[in-house]
Amino acid sequence: MCEIEKSGYPHYMLKEIYEQPEVIKRTLKERLIPGSEGIVLDGIGLTQRELDGVHRMVIVACGTSYHAGLAGKYLIESLAGIPVEVEIASEFRYRSPAVDKNSLVIVISQSGETADTLDALRTAKGKGARVLAITNVVGSTIPREADYSIYTCAGPEVSVASTKAYTSQLIVIYLIALQLAYIKGGIGREVYRQMLEAVNRLPEQAQKMLDCSQSMKELAGKHKDIEKIVYLGRGLDYALALEGSLKFKETCYIHSAAYPGGEFRHGPIALVEEGLLVVLLATQDALIDKTLANLKEVKDRGAYVVALAKEGDGEVGKLADRVVYIPDIFDEFTSALAVIPLQLFAYYSAVARGRNVDRPRSLVKSVTD
Ligand code: G6P
Repeated sequence: MCEIEKSGYPHYMLKEIYEQPEVIKRTLKERLIPGSEGIVLDGIGLTQRELDGVHRMVIVACGTSYHAGLAGKYLIESLAGIPVEVEIASEFRYRSPAVDKNSLVIVISQSGETADTLDALRTAKGKGARVLAITNVVGSTIPREADYSIYTCAGPEVSVASTKAYTSQLIVIYLIALQLAYIKGGIGREVYRQMLEAVNRLPEQAQKMLDCSQSMKELAGKHKDIEKIVYLGRGLDYALALEGSLKFKETCYIHSAAYPGGEFRHGPIALVEEGLLVVLLATQDALIDKTLANLKEVKDRGAYVVALAKEGDGEVGKLADRVVYIPDIFDEFTSALAVIPLQLFAYYSAVARGRNVDRPRSLVKSVTD
């Protein structure tokens, strides 16, 4: 791959992280037409009436796409009140999942070719479920076999560790959740309008988030010899913690684990010792007291805490060793911004360790058999 394709960036991963503001803008542009009433989802072939008939959803995916699916569960259940299960495709395909013609199964796949996800799609269709594919690669097998499909507009993703594809999957999920919530009466017109406005500000806010690049580089350099790392979060921050942790282990080959804050006490807290690096995601206002309790717990045991919090936060910044701020937006949409420092931290940590950033050992872009 020639240098020109990297547009001057040393690695595709960094280039793709930096493309995210533009990718979010593109994905939104397809679905939010100025002057039109709300979100344009007709292109997926699922009519308003069909969306209205959705009473149960199952999201199936692998890897990073699975993490986007987890965010989907939190959002769709809380905004639209529709029960959503999320399952790893390689589990779903080898059991007998209880889906039928009344279920909407959403499969998420950047490549559109992942074997487990494709087989999960076929399993779901075989049981009569309708399948909506969220994919990035136009014309790939998964959207061709699905009943409905929606593309993420991330453009080609070369780095094996997925970054911009994940963000664009989140954006599509935000729009689906908002539209379902509005149709189902989970949110009223005014909240719907405010949330759409908030989503529209994400490209510019994502651009601003990239300013933390230098500080993530310094942080990565400072911690380049750590042998383990823990990510903690609650609610949507837990879904994001899983993604941050995966990014780190994929690129750095260092043991990394993510835990839901409340579950941490049931065992994993025994791991905390002097100097353990803990990345604490504290972007959910609704859960901030509980998250602060986690912060105190790990600090008391000697952890070094890097926290992600919203601008205007009072307490997190005082207690954590380092804090990265994201703009003060709805809790529902923080992940699309908070993921950026996590990606940059994984990237610079891998560079500091001399890893093969774009092609980590033993990994491939798409697992097709
Ligand atoms: C591989 C890649 C991951 C990706 C996963 C699912 O493991 O290394 O980055 O998240 O496959 O891929 P998909 O194309 O289905 O999203």
